[in-house]
Amino acid sequence: MPDLFSPITIRSIEFKNRIVVSPMCQYSSVDGFANDWHLVHLGSRAVGGAGLIITEATAVSPEGRISPDDLGIWKDEHMVNLKRITAFLEAHGAVPGMQLAHAGRKASHHRPWDGGKAIAPDAERGWQTVAPSPIPFIPAESTPLELDADGIEKVLADFVAATRRALECGFKVIELHAAHGYLLHEFLSPISNHRTDQYGGSFENRIRFLLELLERVQTVWPKEYPLFVRISATDWTEGGWTAEDAVALSAILKEKGVDVIDCSTGGNVAGAKIPLGPGYQVQFAEKVKKETGILTGAVGLITTAEQANEIITSGRADFILLAREFLRDPYFPMHAAQELGAEIKWPSQYERAKR
Ligand SMILES: Cc1cc2nc3c(=O)[nH]c(=O)nc-3n(C[C@H](O)[C@H](O)[C@H](O)COP(=O)(O)O)c2cc1C
Repeated sequence: MPDLFSPITIRSIEFKNRIVVSPMCQYSSVDGFANDWHLVHLGSRAVGGAGLIITEATAVSPEGRISPDDLGIWKDEHMVNLKRITAFLEAHGAVPGMQLAHAGRKASHHRPWDGGKAIAPDAERGWQTVAPSPIPFIPAESTPLELDADGIEKVLADFVAATRRALECGFKVIELHAAHGYLLHEFLSPISNHRTDQYGGSFENRIRFLLELLERVQTVWPKEYPLFVRISATDWTEGGWTAEDAVALSAILKEKGVDVIDCSTGGNVAGAKIPLGPGYQVQFAEKVKKETGILTGAVGLITTAEQANEIITSGRADFILLAREFLRDPYFPMHAAQELGAEIKWPSQYERAKR
């Protein structure tokens, strides 16, 4: 069996292969609710053979949404439709995962196809954003409110409540979104965190919020289920968060019981120069894995079966996350198996098309 299709077990959960649907915002919710779009979108990729399917950034509070159209899990009413999705994914052999997120200073934006611009706090559908420090992402955007002790406690409590709901919905993996310039990353990076209290300044202080959040989430997320953290392994900017910081943080997260570091980059500095190219972020998954021994996920411009398989075979990462390739081809794993000569089960309904 090619390594891309070798199963892996983390805690009590077996993943049938290493292919993961990377979290992808769909901007298709009303008041945070999942609907038929989410069922079909995520469900198709389960039918297509993905081992793990991670929902889009799912907001733990209304103000934690990137856009008013984001998926959410801040109230019990959200659970009914999500349960239907987890049941479908599991029935088709995919592990259901949920990315829990708070957009911080990058919240309150229009969805991309409505222009993607910031919505002012007092404008229709807009709201006041929050962040570690009152620094907008770009000067033209409104200034976020600096989180005080009560604000910090609210975010922690929102993540805990969201985790409890995710568990009740049947998700078997949660991924904390600490990447792409959203709230948790904003605390990590000296570019967006100028605090002078115990949450700012030194590396130890900047990672404190994420560690407290992790500890709180672990009080409700069972030890039997895997916990992933997505990080931006670099800000690609002088004076920002670095790959060495990412390694140091990952070593601590490993010690504290995190199972997988999903290694993305960027998102916290507008206009950062990112050397895009095939597999351009794999080096970070490799570095974190080699230097800490934690399992890692590689993501970013991975588009072919051979490329994905080689990353696993060479031991540079343990999971391959695909985003845009999965939008082009929901059946990527079925096609990849054919290309690599792996024998995998197709849905019974589709077997007549297998050869
Ligand atoms: C439509 C779309 C929505 C995305 N939404 C999220 C998200 O909700 N959370 C996240 O961590 N990354 C998000 N991303 C980033 C992807 O997960 C992935 O890291 C990135 O697209 C690089 O992978 P790719 O080259 O396979 O597309 C999104 C990407 C796309 C294309």
